[in-house]
Amino acid sequence: MKKGVLIINAFLDTPQVNKTYDMLKMGAKRAGIDMNVATNADFFTHLDSGLVKAHKHNNLEGTGFILFWNKDVFLGRALERMGYRLYNCADAIEACDNKALTFEMLEGICRMPRTIKVPMTFNTIGYGDLSFEASIGAQLGYPYVIKECLGSYGGQVYLANDSDQARQILKQIEGKDCIAQEFIETSRGRDIRAYVIGDRVVAAMERYNPDDFRSNITNGGSAKAFAITKDMESLAVAAVKGLGLDFAGVDILFGKNDEPILCEVNSNAQFTGLLAATGTDITDPLFEYILSR
Ligand SMILES: Nc1ncnc2c1ncn2[C@@H]1O[C@H](COP(=O)(O)OP(=O)(O)O)[C@@H](O)[C@H]1O
Ligand SMILES: [Mg+2]
Repeated sequence: MKKGVLIINAFLDTPQVNKTYDMLKMGAKRAGIDMNVATNADFFTHLDSGLVKAHKHNNLEGTGFILFWNKDVFLGRALERMGYRLYNCADAIEACDNKALTFEMLEGICRMPRTIKVPMTFNTIGYGDLSFEASIGAQLGYPYVIKECLGSYGGQVYLANDSDQARQILKQIEGKDCIAQEFIETSRGRDIRAYVIGDRVVAAMERYNPDDFRSNITNGGSAKAFAITKDMESLAVAAVKGLGLDFAGVDILFGKNDEPILCEVNSNAQFTGLLAATGTDITDPLFEYILSR
């Protein structure tokens, strides 16, 4: 029997993520995989020696692969240096986690909204002078989107309708790295979540929220199954390949003529919403993919 270890985050404990872990455990069982579960706090990464030492019972011996459901990329990289194959790879997870890094890496690979890295400041200093905002506004037009580089569930994504609002938002989040992005009006409150495994989309849903520009389900959006188009599939797969991922949930916006535009890539996407909307349990194709490697 093939052995694997699922490494989850020790401190993340919500009904939604626990459901995700349960689905992964059941999917592994169906695929005939003996799957142990560990957390990132079961190990210490010794940065001086590069070694990972388990300080709990969790032993990685005999493990064929690690399903790294985690953003603890220092642990991930150390495990990789020790020879373990991680799904997803630590560098790819890091590239997804930071929205500026995602767009930087996918420049020239995927169609994306015009995106400007907001000048970095220090969290102990903030922005004294916000006059640079006028240039961002002039280039992107209003409204435009401001996103903290680290964020999820729509919680750190803001719409600035005018210069005053933009400056207010920047002031409120000062010290956090962020990007400013063209608002794709034709996609207001609506996008596609495409779940990519390897070189294909295994399930997709349309998310919509008439009351908010963000379509995230956790933020009150609804979802229905969506038949992915060839163009969207190409964009989603190119994003996954470009970031070095094995699988991911890719958010896609609708351009003026419904042309797909990349919104973001999630290396550790939840998939309970996708199951509810489409009836597809992505853990089956996921373990099939891992076993085929
Ligand atoms: N440039 C944009 N134009 C239009 N809508 C956007 C844009 N960026 C994000 N959105 C909306 O906001 C939602 C959340 O943004 P996203 O970048 O996916 O961050 P999060 O990691 O919080 O999900 C998207 O699903 C989409 O509905
Ligand atoms: Mg998103």
